[in-house]
Order: sequence, then C-alpha cells, then structure tokens
Amino acid sequence: MGYIKDLGEIYLAKNYKRFPVAFVKGKGSRLYDEEGNEYLDFCAGIAVCALGHAHPEVSKAICEQAQKLIHVSNLYWTEPQAKLAQILCEHSFADRVFFANSGAEVVEAALKLARRYAWKNFGPEKHEIIALENSFHGRTFGALSATGQPVYWEGFKPLVPGFRHVLPNDIKALEEAISEKTCAIIFEPIIGEGGVIPLSDEFIKAARELADKYNALLIFDEIQTGIGRTGKLFAYEWTGVTPDVMCLAKGLAGGMPLGALLATEEVMAALEPGTHASTFGGNPVSCAAALVVLNKILEEGFLEEVVLKGKALRQKLLNLADNYGDLVAEVRGQGLMQAMELKVSATPVGEYLFYEKRILITVIKDRVLRFTPPLIIAYREIDALGEALDEALAKIASE
Ligand SMILES: Cc1ncc(COP(=O)(O)O)c(C=O)c1O
Repeated sequence: MGYIKDLGEIYLAKNYKRFPVAFVKGKGSRLYDEEGNEYLDFCAGIAVCALGHAHPEVSKAICEQAQKLIHVSNLYWTEPQAKLAQILCEHSFADRVFFANSGAEVVEAALKLARRYAWKNFGPEKHEIIALENSFHGRTFGALSATGQPVYWEGFKPLVPGFRHVLPNDIKALEEAISEKTCAIIFEPIIGEGGVIPLSDEFIKAARELADKYNALLIFDEIQTGIGRTGKLFAYEWTGVTPDVMCLAKGLAGGMPLGALLATEEVMAALEPGTHASTFGGNPVSCAAALVVLNKILEEGFLEEVVLKGKALRQKLLNLADNYGDLVAEVRGQGLMQAMELKVSATPVGEYLFYEKRILITVIKDRVLRFTPPLIIAYREIDALGEALDEALAKIASE
C-alpha cells in the first residue's frame, strides 16, 4: 500500500476511519486495489452501487451524457432530469420530484417541505417533527436533528429545535408525542445505520393513522431501503401504507451523486418558486445514470431475483446462527439488506473478512454485521460469503 494512502494521510481530513486499501477499478461485485488484488463487495459503497461497479450501460450513459452536457443549473430544463422524474412518479405514489445530490440534502428538503406545508395550511405553531430513536437521517443540521442517536450530536449542539424522538415500534409513545403541533413523522421503514431493524407493520400503520388524524405528513426515508434494495422498488410497497413524502438517494444513480424528494401534488405545492433550490441537484449526468439503473431494476424478473438472492443470503445467515448459537444474537433484514447481530463485538469478524478473505462488509453499532451487496450479486458469491463468515465465526468461537 503506497502512494494513494500516503497522499490521503497527508492532505485529507481525518474524519473517516478507512481500511488500508485504495481501489482503482471495479467490475460487477468485485473491486481491485493498486496491486491488482480482488475484493468481493458486500458493502457496495454503503448500499449504493445497485448494479455493481462499472456496469457497462451505466458507464456508457454517463460518458455519452458528459460528452453532450454536464451542467446547466435548474434555471433550465434538461431531458434526463424530466424523464427521471417521470419514471419515479409513474412507479410510486408521488406526483412530483425535487432533485438534490445526497441523502442528507434530500432529508433536509423533506423537513423544510413539511414545515412549509404546515405553515401554509395550518400556521406557524404546527412545526414539530417526530423521528425515531436510533434512526439515521444524515449529517446536515436538520438531518442531524432528526437523527435519533446522541453520539452523532456530540459537539454540534444546539441542534435545530422542534424535534421529538420516540422508540421505534412503540405505538403508545408515538400517540403520546403527536399533537396538533406536529407537522411530520419521519422514519426509515427498516432502520439502516441503527442496526438494520425493521419497523413493524402495526407501527407503520399506526403512524399513518396518527399522521392523518393530526394533519401531519408521513415521510419515509427510503435512502437506504429504496431502489430495489429490499426486493420491491420501494420498501413502503411491502407495508400496505403509502407515505406523503419519500426520500431517495444512495442506489438511485448507481454510484453517481443524486438524491430525490418525492411527494404528492398537494404537498409539493408548498415549494413555490424560490422557496428551496440546489445548484447541482438533478444534474444531467447523474440523472442519465439513474435512468439506466431504474430501467434495469424495472426489467421483468429483476426484483424477483433480488427477493430470491435475499432469501439465499438470509438462509446462509440463519444456518450460521444455528451453528454458532453462542455467538449470534439475531438475523434481520429484507431482500439484499441483511444483518447478523452478534453477542460480542463484530469488528473482529469484519476484519477477518477484509484481511483474510478480501470481502467487504460493514460493521455497524459495534455488534452488527451488515450485508448490502450490489443487487446483481451472484449466488456463488453469496456462497463465498457464507463460507468465509463460517470460518470467521469458527475462529472467534475457538478463541
Ligand atoms: C436512511 C438514511 N438517510 C439518510 C442518509 C444520509 O445520506 P448521505 O450520506 O448521502 O447524506 C443515510 C446514509 O447512510 C441513510 O442511511
């Protein structure tokens, strides 16, 4: 490991804990470092690279668009942006889309939309936002204030006022927190960074009913669960509940930076000209990549395969949980967003997979192994992960 890491160590901010590897190329579910070593990717850029690395059609669309037009701002129309909005609306509850560049930016836009919608229709008193403890919505001040993990707040207070947090899946707590002052409830249908914790259908249904009763908006943060990750295009489709507002980013443009805020006509009407904006949001190159991603995911059979591969991965994890009952606490998740919670720190397992097997996964909340491979992962690659994980757990069990 040489030059790239050395240069980064000198000049980059030290806000990330990075593995000692610099990647120079990728193909499908594989990544390659400077020395040509191959890594199997069950991280996918933190649930981003939906079609894997360097997907030929994504790369082609990016190159072709970049040769025609890279940026004009939102003072003008562009075809990729308009077409992408059309596809997103035609395949969801939404009527209109606002584009940004990242997850946090989209959450920020959702929170601003909720406040403005309430302000316009019900007055300034209606401004409180209910979010969940243990949630993660991003690092900007609004998104950070919605995020229900005090560890991320440390040193950054005062946060944005008006946020209340309740325990996930606690309907009574939600009933107690909501009032005429509430303008929105925001949650991830499966809590991602907080440990891959699915919300119960009852809780989601109760949230919908309470939001309706109190004229509050229901916002689904599908930044991690959306774009096919759970085996449906959007995770809300599993729940029988339709949100008013949805946040997308991560997988949307297959690795290009892009976020999208989706809402109904009535709700999005609160964002009149000049109320919110982004210079880069929905730039033509990212949108061209997203068009390829969505068209692929919507091809017949694609999402069914995600469901089947998710089941195969889950079965591997469940078998290991049976074999290592002393080590494994729980297996959770849906589709290709799966996790195994250990009774001990998961870091040694993550390190074993990285250093001994060249397999990338993410360890979250100290004890949770999270698997979010590209949606095009192959069954034999799932087998390879299972075997490597077996070795890692056997090693820890023997220590
Ligand atoms: C559910 C959820 N919301 C928001 C974000 C923030 O996205 P970004 O890092 O693109 O700002 C994340 C990132 O992990 C996320 O998982």
